[in-house]
Amino acid sequence: MKSGNTAKDLYKQLRALPWPELWAEHVPRFDRATPRERFDTVAVIRAVGVVFSESGPAEQKDDVKQWLVGLLHDPEEKIRRYAMAALPKIGVGPAEEAELLALLQKTTSAREEKFLGQTFDKIGGEATLEAIEADGSFSPKTVQRVKASVARTQSPSSIRLDRTVFDFSRVRIHLRGRRGLEAIMREEIEAQGKFRVVEVSPGLVTVTAPTAFTLADLFALRCFGSVAFVLGLVKPADEAASTEALAAAIASPHAQRLLEALTDGAIRYRLEFIGKGHQRAAVRRVTDRAYTLCPRILNDPREAPWAIDIHTTGEGQSVELRPRLTPDPRHPYRLGDVPAASHPPLAACMARLAGRMENETVWDPFCGSGLELIERARLGGVRRVHGTDLSAPAIDIARRNFTAARLAPIEARFTCCDFRDFPRLESLPPHSLTLLITNPPLGRRIPIPNLRGLIADLFALAARMLQPGGRLVFTNPFPMESPEPSLKLQSRHVVDLGGFDCRLEVYWKTAR
Ligand SMILES: C[S@@+](CC[C@H](N)C(=O)[O-])C[C@H]1O[C@@H](n2cnc3c(N)ncnc32)[C@H](O)[C@@H]1O
Repeated sequence: MKSGNTAKDLYKQLRALPWPELWAEHVPRFDRATPRERFDTVAVIRAVGVVFSESGPAEQKDDVKQWLVGLLHDPEEKIRRYAMAALPKIGVGPAEEAELLALLQKTTSAREEKFLGQTFDKIGGEATLEAIEADGSFSPKTVQRVKASVARTQSPSSIRLDRTVFDFSRVRIHLRGRRGLEAIMREEIEAQGKFRVVEVSPGLVTVTAPTAFTLADLFALRCFGSVAFVLGLVKPADEAASTEALAAAIASPHAQRLLEALTDGAIRYRLEFIGKGHQRAAVRRVTDRAYTLCPRILNDPREAPWAIDIHTTGEGQSVELRPRLTPDPRHPYRLGDVPAASHPPLAACMARLAGRMENETVWDPFCGSGLELIERARLGGVRRVHGTDLSAPAIDIARRNFTAARLAPIEARFTCCDFRDFPRLESLPPHSLTLLITNPPLGRRIPIPNLRGLIADLFALAARMLQPGGRLVFTNPFPMESPEPSLKLQSRHVVDLGGFDCRLEVYWKTAR
């Protein structure tokens, strides 16, 4: 077999050829070659697609299409794959679409199906859709794939945050977040008063909505990571029964009503077995069956506005409908990011834990992209914020994000420096801050030479710079108490920060 590089080099050479030479010399040579040689020189097919689309004469278009369609019947999958990738470049009509469909109908290879799906994604497939609907013999998988592709290109769908949902008081809504943050999530939900907390377990708060609500009401909560509507719980069963039950939950009247209420355009979803890898066969079985039960709800792995997640729990499989809103509507201010940025809901939890004093002066010594400062400022009562970071790009990003957050007039100063130098650089007198809120470097991605020393310095600076009654809120990587007697521990939550635990701590500054 040719090495990747040799194949690439061959493609480069062929792609640079004038069309007449490529078509008159290399294509016939490819056709005469042995199967082995053809396998090694598939680059010819790719070059034909590209060179013809750029400079091929219109009168040869049918011949080129015919050649590529012929290759769709080649016994070698790689050749078929190259041909299906080249066809959309030439411009396909109903005859070629029918050939591609026949192949989709016939193939048993997941890989080939994936590439065919990509081809249909490019050609839009309206003619295909008409053809398969008229024919009636195509599998649910094929029909669903083409319908989803047409729907995606012709009526892009979106999720409606502002649409009021009525009569869903019995729907359980799962708000997931980092393990250890549940109590803060719960406090936020109860303070908002729109939803009722019915259960709390690690990383999960379950609520119901006693009255009509919108998705915007849910996304007004900032401490959760993801939100989903529970469609059903499928008890452990054999493969056939579990497929049927999962599909029934997806296609249930309850799911349909929710999806219809909250979607503009075609209803498309992506199915995921959370934590279980691709599960292609199971996804296929469940989505085919769900389509048969409700053809208006289309499975579409690409750019679907909804996800249906299957979570394995102790009691069975929880089927959950989750809006895939990217970017998260809660953070339109995030114009830029830093590699070690905080998880935004963690920053929101920290801001809530900090509580508020009037006319706060807040400092984040390790501000990165500025999330903690922004989340705290959003809660009001802030007069001035300071952000410091060793990284100049981070300071630039924090400044831009803070401006984009459009907060009420707040004096904001961002300084590139070591946090230990900041009070001196800014001539800040001791006891002049009311809140120090920060997510320090944790030494995970970028090793920090003396992380314990850095945390000890943070405590020392907090003790010196906070006024009595001021607070230090931070994620402590060490199980260590404050070495500063004037800082009294108020609360500690052990939080999973993505595979390792940290202590989210609040200290209160006593009289000097
Ligand atoms: C975990 S990140 C903070 C992320 C930030 N909360 C955000 O939302 O983007 C830690 C930051 O500390 C900064 N840093 C590390 N050592 C520092 C030091 N001695 N002084 C100031 N900043 C430092 C890093 O450049 C990094 O941006």
